[in-house]
Amino acid sequence: MTRRRVAADEVRQANRGWWDADADDYQAEHGAFLGDVDFVWCPEGLREADARLLGELAGRRVLEVGCGAASCSRWLATQGARPVALDLSAGMLRHAAQAAARSGVHVPLVHADALALPFADAAFDTACTAFGAVPFVEDSAALMREVHRVLRPGGRWVFSVTHPMRWIFLDDPGEGGLVAVHSYFDTQPYVEQNARGVATYVEQHRTLGDRVRELVGTGFRLVDLVEPEWPAGHEGTWGQWSPLRGRLFPGTAIFVAEKPR
Ligand SMILES: C[S@@+](CC[C@H](N)C(=O)[O-])C[C@H]1O[C@@H](n2cnc3c(N)ncnc32)[C@H](O)[C@@H]1O
Repeated sequence: MTRRRVAADEVRQANRGWWDADADDYQAEHGAFLGDVDFVWCPEGLREADARLLGELAGRRVLEVGCGAASCSRWLATQGARPVALDLSAGMLRHAAQAAARSGVHVPLVHADALALPFADAAFDTACTAFGAVPFVEDSAALMREVHRVLRPGGRWVFSVTHPMRWIFLDDPGEGGLVAVHSYFDTQPYVEQNARGVATYVEQHRTLGDRVRELVGTGFRLVDLVEPEWPAGHEGTWGQWSPLRGRLFPGTAIFVAEKPR
């Protein structure tokens, strides 16, 4: 693993390959926590049912960008919304289809890149993602522009990502993850690569200011920035997320934005 700049095409290939190859393991490890029909924003366990960050849902056309197994979209359907679940990875969408069959809740699944959304302008009232697409694309400002394009004026865009300050630390849920080792200001992505030096996994770091500037520069209005606290009694870990670290500093940032009318 290393930190280095990676061109957009190499990023796309790495992401597609990674999420296809990892889909079974990811769902085996996290599927029970995420549920078949549930909207969990983050490893802290904040649910849309409690947070209500998306606003009104009944009758709303909602795009879930980077949906994974699409449990959020199925939950949205049970709330009367009209969701469409989109992901770059066929492996993840296979799990979405299986979960639909298990749960009996079916939503349209679209296999596409979030950087080239196959929808008309203003096709959606709301867009959302829990850790999908945004942390992985090389040009996240371009993703903001695509989401802005497909939202109607007054539409809402809510996305969760790893909290930028986590990038200061090692990906260690234990004591080793409490010591600052990286510069917050170094925005080179985290890269795993094969023996030939080709990227196999790429995750992008943006500072809080970068994220705000990308939203505002696109024309969004920032409504809220939610930093979920680690809840009492939650003893589970998810990769680098743990009760030990969660009680000290935020692990997730959820950006709530609106396209002005
Ligand atoms: C951490 S998962 C989040 C999915 C789901 N919310 C969950 O919690 O399991 C990240 C998802 O983003 C998808 N993704 C990555 N890059 C993407 C892109 N450029 N366009 C669409 N989806 C992308 C991946 O395929 C993967 O399913």
